[in-house]
Amino acid sequence: MKLFFSLITLFFPVLGLVACGGGTNSSSSYPNVALYTNLNLTSLLNYTAPTLPAHYDATVLATSNQTNDNLMTNKGATLGRVLFNDARLSFNDTKSCASCHAQSNGFVDQNRFSTGFAGGSTSAHAMRLGNIAFYRGSSMFWNKRATSIEDQATDPIQNDIEMGFDATHGGLAALITKMQALPYYPELFAWVYGDSAITQARIENALAQFERSMISSDSKWDRAYAVVYAANGNVNSNANFGLSLAGVNIPAANRFSASEENGRALFMRGPPAGKGCAGCHEPPTFALDRNSRSNGLDLNETVVFKSPSLKNVELSGRFMHDGRFNSLEQVLAHYTSGIQAGTARDNRLPVGGINMTAQEQTDIVAFLKTLTDTSLNTDARFASPLIK
Ligand code: HEC
Ligand code: HEC
Repeated sequence: MKLFFSLITLFFPVLGLVACGGGTNSSSSYPNVALYTNLNLTSLLNYTAPTLPAHYDATVLATSNQTNDNLMTNKGATLGRVLFNDARLSFNDTKSCASCHAQSNGFVDQNRFSTGFAGGSTSAHAMRLGNIAFYRGSSMFWNKRATSIEDQATDPIQNDIEMGFDATHGGLAALITKMQALPYYPELFAWVYGDSAITQARIENALAQFERSMISSDSKWDRAYAVVYAANGNVNSNANFGLSLAGVNIPAANRFSASEENGRALFMRGPPAGKGCAGCHEPPTFALDRNSRSNGLDLNETVVFKSPSLKNVELSGRFMHDGRFNSLEQVLAHYTSGIQAGTARDNRLPVGGINMTAQEQTDIVAFLKTLTDTSLNTDARFASPLIK
């Protein structure tokens, strides 16, 4: 138990303790928070020290992109939860972050492109946010143009398609003026930061804390892998990732079918025995290798794209940065025979494709579906707290 806590605090230093400040935290001190949200400010949900399976060990937690400038607190993540779910952060009160990053879908919009505040369409597919904490390149968006989650967080608000506080609508200054007039925000910012000032940095930090807390650790794969991890030295190694999850040592509910197990082995192993997927989509978080280059979608591609973690990929609806594929089968067909030459292509993916039989493709699709995490998609910590 002691070990468990020390591992957790590596990742989430426990700063939330200052929350016990006496009467000032009671709901009556924050009447508008009580009017607009169902938050209980005296009994916060636990963002900083969630119960994670043992394979989210110190080595994995050390890959978090959290920095000392913005350590997570339960108060900060709670403010982030309000901001993320609040359509009033868009110019005409129609779009929140959650409109395009729906929790029930693994924080993604299943449409190929998303509809913004004024009916316009994005030119990229939305991205799943589960395990965003573990993207080590610290680069956000498909083309990695934002340097951090903090840096990304107010971009959609200022985007002329997405939420509409672009320069012609007054920019972030206009949003901040609007938030100052929404009675619950001065109260919430004072509760989190000690004074009611609403600033870009405070908005970005709270949103980033909330997003970093979206850890996916309860898929079928996690539950099965936890058994072999515990039985084989409590270490995340290629050897352990290579172990069968179809054996009788795995409880029946989480035991892999023959197809899932074959897909798992093909995904995890490098060539020639396997297909080398795990070299880029790295277990146990399935975030992308920070050094990964593009996967050859278009001839002569020069842009290096990232992929969000493959956790919940089944629920994405559309796949790749422009949502060009509408099924995981099409994704596997791409890797089998569609890989194009171009300077951005990663050499681990041969031009032409990785040789895969139809059955192998089917099995890898079956494996990808074991990465679906319904716990993340129903976790009360991420639901909208707004009631008005
Ligand atoms: C209208 C739909 C829409 C809204 C609203 C929206 N997003 Fe997004 N989000 C997208 C799309 C589309 C992308 C991919 C854009 C790209 O890469 O060019 C994206 C990408 C992201 C990423 C990058 C993920 C990664 O792994 O690199 C983050 C983080 C994110 N959004 C958070 C937010 C937050 C926070 C808000 C609210 C302040 C928000 N989004 C509002 C559609 C939306
Ligand atoms: C060299 C690194 C690399 C390898 C190897 C690789 N991928 Fe990818 N994968 C990527 C990149 C980069 C993207 C995002 C490409 C884009 O949208 O432009 C991606 C995207 C995906 C997506 C879609 C994700 C989404 O959110 O739309 C799936 C599914 C996927 N890969 C599965 C696999 C499978 C299965 C294999 C093995 C057969 C594999 N990948 C091998 C780099 C890799």
